[in-house]
Amino acid sequence: MSTDDGRANVKMAWQSAALFAVALLASCNRNSDLVLSPLSCAEKAADGVRLIASTRDARFQGKVMESTAECRGGEPAVARRSQPWVDWANYFATGDGSSKSWFFTRNFRGVGGALVDLEYQRAELIKFNLFDNSGTFEQYRRDRDGKEGAAQKSWPQMRLPESDPNFSAVGGAGEQLCRGELIRIRTLDGICNDLTNPLMGSTHTLFARNVQFEATFPDLEVDATADERDRTTNRHAGRISLLIPDPQVVSRRLFTRAQSDPAACNDGYGKPGFSKDAHCDYKQASFFNVLAAFWIQFMTHDWFSHLEEGHNSAEYMSVGCASQKVNGVETALTAADVARLGCRPSDAMEKSYLADAGRPATFVSGNKSYYARAPRTFRNNNTAWWDGSQIYGFDALSRERVKRDPHDLARLLMVQVPGASKQGDSQGYLPLLQDADPKNPDWTGQESVAFADNWTIGLSFLHNVFAREHNQFVDEFRRRASKAPDADSGLRNPEAPDRVIRNRDVTPDELFEVARLVIAAEIAKIHTIEWTTQLLYNEPLYRGMNGNWNGLLEKTSSLSRELADVVSRLKASNRSLEANQYYSILAAGPGIFGLESAAPGWSMAGDDNLRAFVNGGTNHFGSPFNFPEEFVTVYRLHALVPDLIDYRVLDAPNAIAAEIPVVETFRGRATPFMHERGMANWALSLGRQRLGALALQNNPRFLQNLKMDRLHSPTQTIDVAALDILRDRERGVPRFNEFRRQYGLHQLTSFDDFINVNDTAAAQAEQTKLVKIMREVYGQHHCDRTKKITYAQRNNDGTEIDDCLGKPDGSVVDNIEDLDTVVGWLAESTRPHGFAISETQFVVFILNASRRLYSDRFFTSSFRPEFYTQLGVDWVNNNGPVAMHESIAINGHRNEPVSPFKRVLLRTVPELQSELAPVANAFDPWARNRGSYYTLDWKPRPGAESDPAFAVK
Ligand code: HEM
Repeated sequence: MSTDDGRANVKMAWQSAALFAVALLASCNRNSDLVLSPLSCAEKAADGVRLIASTRDARFQGKVMESTAECRGGEPAVARRSQPWVDWANYFATGDGSSKSWFFTRNFRGVGGALVDLEYQRAELIKFNLFDNSGTFEQYRRDRDGKEGAAQKSWPQMRLPESDPNFSAVGGAGEQLCRGELIRIRTLDGICNDLTNPLMGSTHTLFARNVQFEATFPDLEVDATADERDRTTNRHAGRISLLIPDPQVVSRRLFTRAQSDPAACNDGYGKPGFSKDAHCDYKQASFFNVLAAFWIQFMTHDWFSHLEEGHNSAEYMSVGCASQKVNGVETALTAADVARLGCRPSDAMEKSYLADAGRPATFVSGNKSYYARAPRTFRNNNTAWWDGSQIYGFDALSRERVKRDPHDLARLLMVQVPGASKQGDSQGYLPLLQDADPKNPDWTGQESVAFADNWTIGLSFLHNVFAREHNQFVDEFRRRASKAPDADSGLRNPEAPDRVIRNRDVTPDELFEVARLVIAAEIAKIHTIEWTTQLLYNEPLYRGMNGNWNGLLEKTSSLSRELADVVSRLKASNRSLEANQYYSILAAGPGIFGLESAAPGWSMAGDDNLRAFVNGGTNHFGSPFNFPEEFVTVYRLHALVPDLIDYRVLDAPNAIAAEIPVVETFRGRATPFMHERGMANWALSLGRQRLGALALQNNPRFLQNLKMDRLHSPTQTIDVAALDILRDRERGVPRFNEFRRQYGLHQLTSFDDFINVNDTAAAQAEQTKLVKIMREVYGQHHCDRTKKITYAQRNNDGTEIDDCLGKPDGSVVDNIEDLDTVVGWLAESTRPHGFAISETQFVVFILNASRRLYSDRFFTSSFRPEFYTQLGVDWVNNNGPVAMHESIAINGHRNEPVSPFKRVLLRTVPELQSELAPVANAFDPWARNRGSYYTLDWKPRPGAESDPAFAVK
């Protein structure tokens, strides 16, 4: 890159941050509704300013005025406005090099405009999409309907119950406030993250919703109000139920990976001896590796679980392979159909655990009747916090599987594996589960970790990496402590907040818990600025995610300090709705991490200081934090997993030595694979291989035929892809089109909308084939314009949306309203550049990913040496004991810190040094040439030309 380019990029970084902040600091107008001023150019005169919508049916939908599109993306952006998909994806510089204009200011407007659109979406998501199931919704709704309330709240529903062993410690029946030992650490079951809402986010609290309660469980046609029920009835006309369309038929027709050589794949079991002649076709994403697939499974095991110790309730249900539509009529499958489809009529599976299936209470606010919760609720059996609970535990049973080193209780126990002699092997491997350990019998032979379910070589790798990293931190602390035993560690005990805790005073238990805090923060940072920026590989998201973490502005800049000050004043506001809207937007300036950390000289002494300084940085936007069911839906990412791992060895990285089926590494079978082949070879193999694209007909074959010994069913086998459909229906997730309307996205009007008209002819032919199958599986009907189908949105002309979706009355229309949400987001082929996920999944992340940071005091005001130690704070900020920077520019950004996961890998598997040297992001396939600006090309980097993965097939 030339010096001119470099200067231009530095200028762009500075200017876009400044302009972005100015745009966000735009004025209020009448009714104090928030206004965002659009970025410069002709759009301003033509369009004026856009208000944050005051009602949900008038939402932004990611669509801008013609002049705005013209200004930010030129003619292509204008031409694509009529499509249902968001407009920002067509702005200047939001794609690869070809999306850039010769005029710097256009690129600046394109990227800045995309960020502004995304902030509009986030502000409206916060305003319209928070629905708590635990009893707080009625008050939240009433506040919205005119009464004023404080932005920061404590809820009676978030008090510890009398049955909790810590009930008295937090204040018993009086005012509850967490103090002392309960606030120093991430507690096992997640209580006391929020000092004034001790129960929030803890194990066994209820999943929330992001969609109106009345829109959930569309097949039950329950009656919050007669009107709402009529809309649901009109929308689906009795066509859907738990088993219709048949989940296994959906799976076999729309999820199965086609194979050019079925014998070479052998349903994902490959060939004897792991011969490298085995081959399973799968659709690959060129810019994301298999490590990234297992990473996200590793994350979900931290965030949520509907299951308890790897099982559901004791009651069983059948899971389909019973019927299909024939000429639009649901018809029983014949034996020949079953054989052709390859499904199993006698499969059965445990039903979900239910928390509450009783009829929800209703209340009236603003002349409208509402449900106080969803018709059925479910518990999150994990802590909702990003607290490393998959490693450290989330209840007493899971904690028993977490083994500590008896020689130094601050460390995790790692054992030496005979014969393992690579450089990093001296750091050891996780011990195995013992007979005495609490466990699901299916887990026998596995490594011992808190969250042990659905274990394969991928999870084994990541758990071993972070157990080693935990010990690396402890060892570094001990090294420094031995050099300076009397130095202040930074840690404080709230019981005696003014007493300095010297390095020598830190107990093994304290150090263990500090290391947990550090590992959890490190993981959150990796996910936010490394995994996500590769999942969403373009410039606006690079800036947006770094903005979420670090702030769009330098933390030390005066503008950033001013914004931080505004943010803190907003939280004190007693006008909750406005305050919440401003807060999320303005906090993008200084960044969420460490937000409102108190100034030097602060004190932890006294309850007021605890509330103000320890807890003061969080914001729950008026609704207690937990993940919504809809979040689980968009993380059903089984298509990411390949059937076979292209196994490589570090001594000859450019060759594939074997094809190892993932299913052969399932559960306890992962152990010999890990011990005999070692971390470095697995890192290399998972790092170089492309993961599966999130697309239709791309689910692993082995997951459609997964053997589970514990099941009391004739086949003891399940189709996990079919279960993805079935579980969402059990949990009342609205179907795809209403799901999009609820989240403020534009609806689709037929399956044809899934065809990407800007794609290659071959790609469009494939999409057309899939649309035909969708039509066969979900069917069509004669539409009726008198039937209104939703309250969530309106047509552009202000009329109500009806069953014809804009088509003539009585015409034959697709049953697009019935499409299962997972099928819909997998079918989205029109996506922003470099998006491994679809825009429908993305909108769910925009809301929940930032809330997960805003709500957690350990990522905001309690990210301080008093909790993390000084070394802990530095370790998270510097991605390790010292800061390191890349010498090459990354997509035009110079002097970038070496990315946090790359640093972790270099410490825990140091033999990867030369392989990782040219890698900028550990989740980009390691041998790929990244080009200069967000290219998605599949080309080798220098030195990897002979890697067969790049051979033209
Ligand atoms: C590679 C091996 C994997 C196996 C064997 C596996 C297996 C399973 C099974 C059996 C279930 C069903 C549980 C039930 O509802 O009864 C499930 C659920 C799920 N899986 Fe996977 N999975 C794998 C990979 C992944 C990956 C890569 C992701 C990516 C995020 C993922 C995300 C999920 C999610 C979100 C659920 C729903 C969990 C819940 O309801 O709490 N899985 N998986």
